[in-house]
Amino acid sequence: IPVEPFDYVVFGGTGDLAERKLLPALYHRQLDGQLTDPTRIIGASRTAMTHEDYRQFGRAALKEHLKAGEYDEAEVKTFTDRLFYISVDAKTDQGWDKLKALLDEAKDRVRAFYLAVAPGIFGAISEKIRDHKLITKTTRIVVEKPIGRDLASALELNDTIGKVFKEEQIFRIDHYLGKETVQNLMALRFANTLYEPLWNSSYIDHIQITVAEAVGLESRAGYYDTAGALRDMVQNHILQLLCLVAMEVPPSMNAEAVRDEKLKVLRALKPITAANVEKMTVRGQYKAGASAGGAVKGYLEELEGGVSNTETFVGIKAEINNWRWAGVPFYIRTGKRMATRMSEIVISFKPIPHSIFDDAAGRVEANQLIIRLQPDEGVKQSLMIKDPGPGGMRLRNVSLDMTFAESFNARSADAYERLLLDVIRNNQTLFMRRDEVEAAWRWVDPILKAWDEVGQKPQSYTAGTWGPSQAIALIERDGRTWHEVV
Ligand code: BG6
Repeated sequence: IPVEPFDYVVFGGTGDLAERKLLPALYHRQLDGQLTDPTRIIGASRTAMTHEDYRQFGRAALKEHLKAGEYDEAEVKTFTDRLFYISVDAKTDQGWDKLKALLDEAKDRVRAFYLAVAPGIFGAISEKIRDHKLITKTTRIVVEKPIGRDLASALELNDTIGKVFKEEQIFRIDHYLGKETVQNLMALRFANTLYEPLWNSSYIDHIQITVAEAVGLESRAGYYDTAGALRDMVQNHILQLLCLVAMEVPPSMNAEAVRDEKLKVLRALKPITAANVEKMTVRGQYKAGASAGGAVKGYLEELEGGVSNTETFVGIKAEINNWRWAGVPFYIRTGKRMATRMSEIVISFKPIPHSIFDDAAGRVEANQLIIRLQPDEGVKQSLMIKDPGPGGMRLRNVSLDMTFAESFNARSADAYERLLLDVIRNNQTLFMRRDEVEAAWRWVDPILKAWDEVGQKPQSYTAGTWGPSQAIALIERDGRTWHEVV
């Protein structure tokens, strides 16, 4: 469905995120017929540039980041004609009048400001937007993580933005919520009668969430070394996944309804403190090893001689203190330089209460529902069946396999594509509300403090493996195993 013309102002318009994600995502929306004329995308940053320069930048970004066959000369021309550029300085008044003049050419249009910049200047930019009277009735602001590096700084950041914008104007992006399979999790749970009656501690033994990356630091040492895996991945993406798995059925898909339910899950997470942190968490840091067939450096070597206690891997046994989930562990693991890039959620059902089959039939294995986020997005349900043929009752574990690429034969849209236009459509369902972000920090903060307090340092793991051996022990000492990836 086409969207009414809008103006997207991208602060940090010449940055990495704009180049790699935002411009290609908007281009794809145009290919699907969703951008209507005279929609504009306005790059803004300190660099001096003309509109024409920015169009060149946009063209180069698309050339570099689109897949083969997606770059179409005529479409790219239409797209780059939508690009404008204004040089503004967040700290001074330079450029803001020009931005206002450009935007005021179309005062009634939905106006979105995307802050693809360091959080340190979110406040300054918000104030300039207000002081220069750029806020109309249909103005929205989009902010990216990191929203703080602990609870105190998150509160402060939310306050700063909240002084200028109302909560209903603020769209806090967590790009994992834009991933196809993540949204599918809601469809799977709430559009089928099959799962929901079983979705509780009576029938589910445990849940696993793995977000493994093969990449290392890339060029992000400056940020990453101050963050680490807990802040970078768990506080946001993984807790969001956990919420969607664990939340109660919201009364509707309305933004407040969904976010109210997620918030309850976050608030019910069992605290991890100095008393139990060593039992419930594992920190890791990769050392030199091999990835994709080649030798790779260790984390400290990538830091170039650095000394660092930053974790590049974290494993957690999380628990939710409510009726639905009491006694069901959520095993979480995420890391850089792991064996492969692979993210999945595994719902492990309880074993059958009693087997009527004899030993010759083989073992009855518990059912698993595997939701694969990336790559090869899809859903698999394992079932025990009888091995076909006259050989008697032999049981076999098979998968009902729905790989989306095969089933739908469609390209899989990047997470940003959906989210960027949800801002224009004014739909906050897939964005984080202020209280959610803060509740997530309320659980993460004590873990960070506890690590300090008990002096829990990262264990080393070889690059290209599944993390430190302690991460395997985290689940195996409970008599369970990580789902093996084939
Ligand atoms: C980002 C993290 O939020 O998510 C990165 O800062 C990480 O460290 C990235 O690599 C992972 O996103 P995706 O979509 O590639 O799984």
